[in-house]
Amino acid sequence: MAKAIAKIDHFNLAAGRVLARKYEVISLLGGGWEGEVYLVREVATGIERTAKLFFPQRNLRDKAVKFYAKKLHKLRHCPIVIQYSAQDQITVKGIPVTLLISEYVEGELLSQFVARQPGKRLQPYQALHVLHALACGMEAVHRIGEYHGDLHTDNIILQRYGLGFDMKLVDLFQSPSSKRTAIQDDTVEMVRIFHEILGGQKHYAKQSRAVKDIINGQKRSLILKKFRSAAQLREYIETMQW
Ligand SMILES: Nc1ncnc2c1ncn2[C@@H]1O[C@H](COP(=O)(O)OP(=O)(O)O)[C@@H](O)[C@H]1O
Ligand SMILES: [Mg+2]
Repeated sequence: MAKAIAKIDHFNLAAGRVLARKYEVISLLGGGWEGEVYLVREVATGIERTAKLFFPQRNLRDKAVKFYAKKLHKLRHCPIVIQYSAQDQITVKGIPVTLLISEYVEGELLSQFVARQPGKRLQPYQALHVLHALACGMEAVHRIGEYHGDLHTDNIILQRYGLGFDMKLVDLFQSPSSKRTAIQDDTVEMVRIFHEILGGQKHYAKQSRAVKDIINGQKRSLILKKFRSAAQLREYIETMQW
């Protein structure tokens, strides 16, 4: 009979707990489908880091961790992507759990930033700046033939905003599609994020021609006809008439 897969839905690590004798838990940063993410302090140096603990059922034979670690390493020269630092093993309730250590990004999720704006949406020109920053960052990823795989407003951390936006991306995901399709998916997702932060469908009809010419009614084929990758989206934004 096949061995039952050990399942964990919550880690609920208390502040002060030390992981793998190296990382002290400070607080929970977030959690989702794959696992939970904690702000930790590297005991030896006092440096703050992020520890992502994978639920065993989402990480069979460490597949998810290995994918994430290798991908972050491959993208280490892409400034929009968080930096990988290490992986380690711990035991939770007697079950082996792998954790992935990466840099800690101080900032606010794009979803939270949008939620506290008047009307819970951004002004068009501000949204265009977000899209531009995202496209510039993703251009470097697509240029080396890679993709993010799970672009949405909870995976984008805003570090600074002013005239423009500085951001980091977390949570890369393994797409079952070809790399070419995954790069196209990223591009469609960037446009979908632009649509969402502008207030979504409820406000679409009232948007300007310039905005609609980017969103294209969210139709994948129309979007991809105009922008096949982040580079084309970036070039378009930089040369369009507002
Ligand atoms: N490097 C990081 N720095 C700061 N916060 C992070 C970092 N990585 C993740 N987070 C926070 O933790 C949440 C969950 O992490 P994520 O990697 O997206 O995992 P999940 O698979 O659970 O969505 C993110 O939405 C973000 O709020
Ligand atoms: Mg996420």
